[in-house]
Amino acid sequence: MAKKQLLTRRHILWIGLGTLAGIAAVAQSKAMYKAQKIQSLYNPERDFSVVEKASLKERAAAKGLIFGAAGRYRDLSSQTALATSFAQECGMLVPEWEFKWSAGNRPLRPAPDKFDFSATDWMANFAQTNKLLYRGHTLVWGLSLPGWFKETVNRQNAEQFLVNHIKTVVGRYAGQMHSWDVVNEAIEPFDERSDGLRKTPWLEFLGPDYIDFAFRVAAKTDPKAMLVYNDYGLDYDNSKDEARRTAVLKLLERLKSKGTPIHALGIQAHLWGDATDFNPKKFRNFLRDVSSLGLKILITELDVVDKNLPLDVDVRDRMVASVYEDYLSAALDEPAVIAVLTWGLSDGYTYISEFHSRPDGTSVRPLPLDAALKRKLAWNAIARAFDKAPQRTALN
Ligand code: G3I
Repeated sequence: MAKKQLLTRRHILWIGLGTLAGIAAVAQSKAMYKAQKIQSLYNPERDFSVVEKASLKERAAAKGLIFGAAGRYRDLSSQTALATSFAQECGMLVPEWEFKWSAGNRPLRPAPDKFDFSATDWMANFAQTNKLLYRGHTLVWGLSLPGWFKETVNRQNAEQFLVNHIKTVVGRYAGQMHSWDVVNEAIEPFDERSDGLRKTPWLEFLGPDYIDFAFRVAAKTDPKAMLVYNDYGLDYDNSKDEARRTAVLKLLERLKSKGTPIHALGIQAHLWGDATDFNPKKFRNFLRDVSSLGLKILITELDVVDKNLPLDVDVRDRMVASVYEDYLSAALDEPAVIAVLTWGLSDGYTYISEFHSRPDGTSVRPLPLDAALKRKLAWNAIARAFDKAPQRTALN
């Protein structure tokens, strides 16, 4: 082979290797920068002490607030210790799966003409026995629809399916419910619609008025229940969450101007332990904008994903607790906020272990109680936020 050609080949090899080395160096420095930023969130001196042993339910109620959590029929009906902790710590129960059209191994809607209320009845009884308020999640969502939905529901019959579902489910528990998430996650600013609505089967079949319609059917079926619009990604000071907050506000303004019977906004608050863009002032302004529409606010699915946090459990728990206390301190300053629910009570029963598992394979620690149902610093952080919260006038 000519010397020249060999040289060229060797040159290309060196250039390639150099480029790869450069890419690796950039990636490594990015990773180091991120690790340093995460480490900077860790304050070993931060005080999380609490006075007395009062439960979260009691601390919330002392301020005219409600604390609750999501639970699953499968866990509450089989894990006595979990059920006991639930009754001790919570003033409200929201089924994580059981009021969806189809989630878990006991779907509410096993067939187009069938309802299986065995799980939701058991949970209603559990709530009543333990003096827990009961909230429903969720009547209308684009996800967790049963397998038969796709080949059965269409433009012609969608309204009849929606009305029948809401009337049957809301009607069964009329007068027993604190609140319903009537519609869940209906906005998606990046679905390129001027109204910011998410492209779901309900929008496709019934048009944008499906939301107003669903609230009206629910209100007629149970005039006593608080009717909530529930959504996520409303928490942080970044362009994505800002777009979502803007779209949600526009939706709420449209609904209120139409006279839709909507009473509250549910802010899911699935937070991230390594987030660095929580801006209390900006978040408070959003809460105030919602409140100015005459709406109450519930923090409906609070948890803190610890996927990207250090391995050390003490460090991780402190960082998670900091997120809880910083977020709730801002949220509870807004008088329109009436309730805080975590999405699960114990680390042993959280969707995060499946949906946001840690790359190092260690157990996740996003919730107030650990897998052994022991109170963690996250519990202290929530307790402290309730203890510092301004007093509400009457329990909502
Ligand atoms: O374990 C059962 C299995 O036995 C059964 O055969 C199978 C049949 O589908 O379901 C399995 O349960 C699934 C469960 O995850 C465990 O994998 C449920 O179907 C599935 O619905 C569930 O995912 C839930 C998800 O919503 C979708 O419904 C998560 O647990 C739940 O935490 C999550 O909650 C959502 C809120 O509703 C809305 N906001 C976001 C939040 C987190 O994604």
